[in-house]
Amino acid sequence: MFADRVLSGMRPTGSLHLGHYHGVLKNWVDLQQQYECLFFVADWHALTTHYDSPEIIEKNVWDMVIDWLAAGVDPSQATLFIQSKVPAHAELYMLLSMMTPLGWLERVPTYKDQQEKLTEKDLSTHGFLGYPLLQSADILIYRANRVPVGEDQAPHIEFTREICRRFNHIYGREIGFKEKAEAAIKKLGSKRSKLYNELKTRFQEQGDESALAEAQSLLNEQQNLNMGDQERLFGYLEGGGKMILCEPDTLLTEAARMPGLDGQKMSKSYNNTISLREDPDSVSKKVRTMPTDPARVRRTDPGDPAKCPVWQFHMVYSDEKTKEWAQHGCKNAEIGCLDCKAPLIERILAEQAPMHERARMYEEDPTLVRNIIADGCEKANQLAEETMRDIREAMGLSYS
Ligand code: TRP
Ligand code: SF4
Repeated sequence: MFADRVLSGMRPTGSLHLGHYHGVLKNWVDLQQQYECLFFVADWHALTTHYDSPEIIEKNVWDMVIDWLAAGVDPSQATLFIQSKVPAHAELYMLLSMMTPLGWLERVPTYKDQQEKLTEKDLSTHGFLGYPLLQSADILIYRANRVPVGEDQAPHIEFTREICRRFNHIYGREIGFKEKAEAAIKKLGSKRSKLYNELKTRFQEQGDESALAEAQSLLNEQQNLNMGDQERLFGYLEGGGKMILCEPDTLLTEAARMPGLDGQKMSKSYNNTISLREDPDSVSKKVRTMPTDPARVRRTDPGDPAKCPVWQFHMVYSDEKTKEWAQHGCKNAEIGCLDCKAPLIERILAEQAPMHERARMYEEDPTLVRNIIADGCEKANQLAEETMRDIREAMGLSYS
C-alpha cells in the first residue's frame, strides 16, 4: 500500500575504506537505480557513542559524503541528507519513546554486546539505550519499506517492526473505524466485496497468508477507492486499524567479503584498511608489504594460498584465469609473492581511479557538496513532514 522506498544511514565515525565500498556502497549504487532511495549521515547516532568527541563527527561528515559521491552514489537519483538537519527524526523518536517498553530496548542484543565491547566508554546512557529507537524513527518517518543493512543491524530492523506494529495497534484505530471500513467495502461493488470478505475471513481465521496477499492485490487494483478508504481496508484486512506507519523489511547486504591487509575483516580498529580515496602509491606499498603464507620464506619454497591473505584479495578482485595462475604458481613456486600481488594492485587502482576522478570536483569545490546536502535535506524534511502530520493527528496533537 505504500510505494517502495529504500532508506539507509551510516555513522560518520571515521573515513571509509574498501570494506565499506564492497560491503555497503556498491549495493547503494545498485539500489539507487531500482528504487527511490534515501541515504543519510547518522550524526546523532554517532553521538550516542562519541558524545565526548564531537570533533570526530564534525570532521567526518563531509568527508563521508564525498566518499559516497566518489563511490558513485548519485544525487540525481538518490536523496542524500544529514539526520540532524531533519529535526522531525527527533520529534518522532521522542513520541515513539512514549509507547516503547523499556524492556524491549534492554533486550536488543546489540545493547549489552556493545556495552561490553566498548569498555573504554561509559555507555550506560539514555541516548545509547535509545539507539535502536532513534533508528526506528529514521526508518518509520519515511515509511521506508526496504532497509539495506548488514547482519549486525538485523535486530534493529526487527525492533523497528515491533514498534511499528505497536504504534499501528495503539493509534491506528480512528473513531468509527469499523463503520468506515464496512462502508468502504461496499464501494468495491458486490462481487469484489464478497471476495474481500471471504479472503479476510480466511486470513483472520486460518492464518492463510496467500489469502492476505490476494486481498492486498485486489485492493491495489482498485482505482476508484480514495487513499483513506484503501488504507482502512488494508488495515481492516489484518484485523488492526488504519496503517499509519509501514513495517520495513531488511534488505540483507551480503556479509562483506572484503578482507583487510592482514586477512582479518577490514576495519579501522585493526589498522588493516585501504581507504576509499587512498593515494595510488600508498595502495601499491600497502599491498606489496602485505603478509603472505609464512611457509614461503624463499622464492623457491612452495606456498598455500589458503594460508595467505593475498589470496583472499584474489577472491574479491580476480577472474578465474588469474586465480588459477596464482594457485598454480604459488603451490609450485613458479611465481613470487610480488608477482602474485601485481594484478591485484592493478585491479584496486583501476577500481579507485573513477572514485578519485569523481571526488576531485567535490574536493576542489566544497560548496557543491553543501548544495547537494541542502537539497537532500529539504526533500527529506518535506517527506518527513507528510508522515508527521498523520502521526501528530493520531496522537492527539493536531490542534490548530
Ligand atoms: N545503525 C546503523 C549502523 O550503525 C546506522 C543507521 C542509523 C541506520 N539509522 C539507520 C541504518 C536507519 C539503516 C536505517 O550501521
Ligand atoms: Fe600468497 Fe600469492 Fe605468495 Fe602464494 S604466491 S603466498 S598466494 S602472495
